[in-house]
Amino acid sequence: MHVILLGAPGAGKGTQAVQISGRLGLAHIASGDLFRQEQGSGSELGKIAKSYMEKGLLVPDEVTVRMILGRIAAPDCAKGFLLDGFPRTLEQAKALDQALAEEGKSISLVLYIKVSTEELLRRLSGRWICRNCQVPYNIVELPPKVPGKCDYCGGELYQRPDDSEETARKRLEVYFAQTMPLIEYYTEAGKLVEIEGEKGIEGVAQDLIAAIEAGIVR
Ligand code: AP5
Repeated sequence: MHVILLGAPGAGKGTQAVQISGRLGLAHIASGDLFRQEQGSGSELGKIAKSYMEKGLLVPDEVTVRMILGRIAAPDCAKGFLLDGFPRTLEQAKALDQALAEEGKSISLVLYIKVSTEELLRRLSGRWICRNCQVPYNIVELPPKVPGKCDYCGGELYQRPDDSEETARKRLEVYFAQTMPLIEYYTEAGKLVEIEGEKGIEGVAQDLIAAIEAGIVR
């Protein structure tokens, strides 16, 4: 299975990917996490990515596509992958389709998690992330068992600088202008399934798994 989780900043892509990738045996690939790891390592790619991310803008397609195509070629993706945060532009989607087609593969399913703008902003303002493994928490909906510590690895939790209200609003603006056209692109390809994203975390996870299982049978 080659599955894409599509949705606005704060829709719950990362939260759901953690919930379902293990259950389904798919490699979880999050473009934002990869860029943050590059920043942490001080690489040239990390410096380029930071200059866009801190403004709430998308990192250029060429750089992003190269990074993701390299990642999906890794052995852990052989049984399938769950993409979180990629593609985000039509150019990225077309580049992904072409790269997969060259290997006789294709995207199986695109799960679009739909959440209202007010709820997105509310979630982003309450989000904390593990500095080590990047698992997201929420002070209201999903608090860690020990305050300030990751349940999975014990890493320190922090608030992402791009979750400030001003940058979060910019990210949403960029999403509506540059990523929303993907909904039409994948609908026309017959691959998009819309998931109601304002249920509780487990309810959304169950709907996503049901959609993936229906996709396997299809
Ligand atoms: P990225 O890290 O991908 O951020 P994003 O897409 O903006 O998505 P988020 O991580 O903000 O949200 P999410 O949907 O994962 O929500 P989460 O699960 O954390 O990208 C960051 C930047 O990197 C971009 O701005 C760009 O600069 C660059 N970038 C990345 N990919 C790129 C690409 N392809 N091209 C170019 N540039 C790229 O949940 C949010 C909060 O809500 C959490 O606190 C969570 O606990 C809570 N929550 C989740 N689900 C629920 C629920 N059902 N009910 C209540 N609360 C919930």
